[in-house]
Amino acid sequence: MKLSNFGKKFSRQSGINLLMVDLGEAYASKHPDLCMLGGGNPASIPEAQALFGEEMEHLIEQGLFEKMVGIYDGPQGERTFLEVLSQFLNREFGWDLTAANISLTNGSQNSFFYLFNALAGEMPDGGFKKILFPLSPEYVGYADSGLSDAMFASRRPKIELLDDRQFKYRVDFDQLEVGDDIAAICLSRPTNPTGNVVSDAELAKLHNLALQHDIPLIVDNAYGQPFPNVIYTEANIPWSEHTILCMSLSKLGLPGARTGIVIASEAITQVISSMSGIITLAPNSVGASLMTRMIESGKIKHLTEEIVKPFYRSKLEVAIELFNQHLGELPVLMHKPEGAFFLWLWLQDLPIPTYELYERLKRRHVYVIPGEEFFIDIDPAWDHTRQCLRINYAQPRDQLQRGFKILAEELRGLYR
Ligand SMILES: Cc1ncc(COP(=O)(O)O)c(C=O)c1O
Repeated sequence: MKLSNFGKKFSRQSGINLLMVDLGEAYASKHPDLCMLGGGNPASIPEAQALFGEEMEHLIEQGLFEKMVGIYDGPQGERTFLEVLSQFLNREFGWDLTAANISLTNGSQNSFFYLFNALAGEMPDGGFKKILFPLSPEYVGYADSGLSDAMFASRRPKIELLDDRQFKYRVDFDQLEVGDDIAAICLSRPTNPTGNVVSDAELAKLHNLALQHDIPLIVDNAYGQPFPNVIYTEANIPWSEHTILCMSLSKLGLPGARTGIVIASEAITQVISSMSGIITLAPNSVGASLMTRMIESGKIKHLTEEIVKPFYRSKLEVAIELFNQHLGELPVLMHKPEGAFFLWLWLQDLPIPTYELYERLKRRHVYVIPGEEFFIDIDPAWDHTRQCLRINYAQPRDQLQRGFKILAEELRGLYR
């Protein structure tokens, strides 16, 4: 089979793809000792599932189910939802949005594919532009989403050591030159994989840089406010014409509904909407239909504040307890967990790359994600890139406990 350049680029095996295949096979094996601490799946929270079920019943009773599955929405997304969401965001944050500032996609992953490729890559004047990640490590899902190679530029973070065997990555503004080849600045906040929440001050500085260079600041808010609001620290969420705020229904518990939300200037909304029309005809209607009444009535706040956020917070407490109990004597630090549902561990001076540690753990049915792939565009000669791993702590306690115990056993052997 002869593939085009596009065909080749988008079908080649990336490291993270291979890992995802591993994780899928592990799930399918149903091994009784399986500790699945890899993957980015949100937890299935019974109270949240019950609310989604109620909304679906309401749609069926009101005869809205047929509309949800039976017609294509416009390429910008379901009209009522766009209206309801813009009014909700204005009420919550004092913004001044209209439906013309919002477009829907089939998940954030889909939003980033559109945005990155609409803004960066080969330009009409023959030049080439890149998306800048001001902080690394960053969400691995960005890494292969460019139509051209080498579309992403990234910077090493500053590492701030904190009490309680924690550390925090900070944007190193001294190294953050924004050249003419940068089309947009992008960061996830809270960050996958680290659980970092870039501070308001850092975000304001990034916004200023974007303004100075007249480029957008893309904020990936997949775990942020107002939903799912899996944030454990104080953080404001600003919006301006220069900001592109990407949201998703996935981490609220609806990854199967494939709904991404892009909040941006009217010009960007037009671009996303046109791309949706060409590439998918229309975005999925399921997420929008399920959430319209919940957002309009404000019940979404009950879901985030009383169900989703406390659920993940209690999981985090368990993870910290197990970290201290099992890894307390080892040279392992934890990134300050400020949001999302991952622990990012720094295994200082680990004598083998975390990819190898991953293989060792896999043989004992423990699955984590080795850190290497998250350092997009960072020189692999930096040993830190081989000393980190991500643990998804949204798992049942017994699995986490066994996972930490086995990780500690492996590390004791390695640090001997
Ligand atoms: C930071 C971040 N952004 C975007 C996504 C993509 O989410 P979705 O396409 O399900 O909306 C994920 C998924 O794990 C993520 O962690």
